[in-house]
Amino acid sequence: MNKSASTLTFKRGLKLKNRIVIAPMTTKMSFYDGVVTTDELAYYALRSGEVGAFITAAANVHQGGKGWDGELGVYDDRFIPGLSKLAAAIKKNHTKAILQIFHGGRMTDSKVLQGLQPVAPSAVAAERPEAEVPRELTEVEIYEILDSFNQATRRAIQAGFDGVEIHGANTYLIQQFFSPHSNRRTDAWGGTLEKRVKFIHELVDGVTKVVDESGVKDFIVGYRFSPEEYENPGIRLEDTLYLVNQLAEKPLDYLHLSLNDYTRVSVSEKYQEQPIIHYIKETINERLPLIGVGNVRSKQDVDTLLATADLVAVGRSVLIDPHWTQKILDDQEELIHTSLSHYDREELKISNGVWGFLQGMMPERLK
Ligand SMILES: Cc1cc2nc3c(=O)[nH]c(=O)nc-3n(C[C@H](O)[C@H](O)[C@H](O)COP(=O)(O)O)c2cc1C
Repeated sequence: MNKSASTLTFKRGLKLKNRIVIAPMTTKMSFYDGVVTTDELAYYALRSGEVGAFITAAANVHQGGKGWDGELGVYDDRFIPGLSKLAAAIKKNHTKAILQIFHGGRMTDSKVLQGLQPVAPSAVAAERPEAEVPRELTEVEIYEILDSFNQATRRAIQAGFDGVEIHGANTYLIQQFFSPHSNRRTDAWGGTLEKRVKFIHELVDGVTKVVDESGVKDFIVGYRFSPEEYENPGIRLEDTLYLVNQLAEKPLDYLHLSLNDYTRVSVSEKYQEQPIIHYIKETINERLPLIGVGNVRSKQDVDTLLATADLVAVGRSVLIDPHWTQKILDDQEELIHTSLSHYDREELKISNGVWGFLQGMMPERLK
């Protein structure tokens, strides 16, 4: 059988009906405080049912970690009823629902935080226009944030999700602890590479413990990471291979390499013989399944990526065509819609926020 249509069973028992998952994508559709909206439920329901799993938009675990307006919230028990509706909207026809859990760290601003200063491992601004200088977290606050990830996991279990994905990618707080650019601490949480991993160790151990002690059946924990940064100093692929080697020893169910193009080659001269994903896969050495992602559009892309990765995540293609997955699985590629116009937006539940992202990421596919 074709690999994309084959099942996969994770360590914690959850079984996916096929190897295609929807990549986490922010909808910017939640209410101002993070409660799921009915439009958002419709956005998810429209795209669910064909893929093996659907990873939600980043959900904020702590009020001080809100990254943008319209972001999903999981920082309080009052979100559980809405999150239950979200899990139920996704879980049709055996698609599994994974909640991505997140803290923005310095990648937010005091407007989004309603006057509060963003927080981060160190008081170093991100290298982007108008970035605010964050406030350095105290150790007490670090433990509070770690606990908020545990609480978010408990809420995801209560809401009926099939798993959580720890968002350690795309420059947000978890990555900020690992990065020598954003983490200049000289205490137990920073300094050497080993110390910059401490936050991730504690986080993964805390979240997996919550799951394993909860008694829930078949609930998985994944971890998403970005392979390298362009800042100097910044995370290099060599650092990431060190991290991946550590993560592969953890009681996680999968790792998820975040890239905009799955064929990407490293900026580090030492690692340019093959695409980044090959180095990651070799380092994992079959200890955990790997999700690959980035500009997957065709069956050829799916097959090429699955020659290395165990699962393929798809973002923009399913925004444009909610039935992309079934057309791929049925070998009906000629029916796939490949571009979007303003006139499609209502039917496809594309919010202003998502449209804005797409204008930046793929203007050539918008009409
Ligand atoms: C509208 C939009 C929102 C996104 N939001 C998130 C997010 O909340 N969390 C995350 O880890 N990645 C996010 N991403 C990145 C995607 O998960 C994915 O890695 C990226 O889009 C590349 O895959 P694609 O080419 O299939 O779209 C987002 C991407 C898009 C287009």
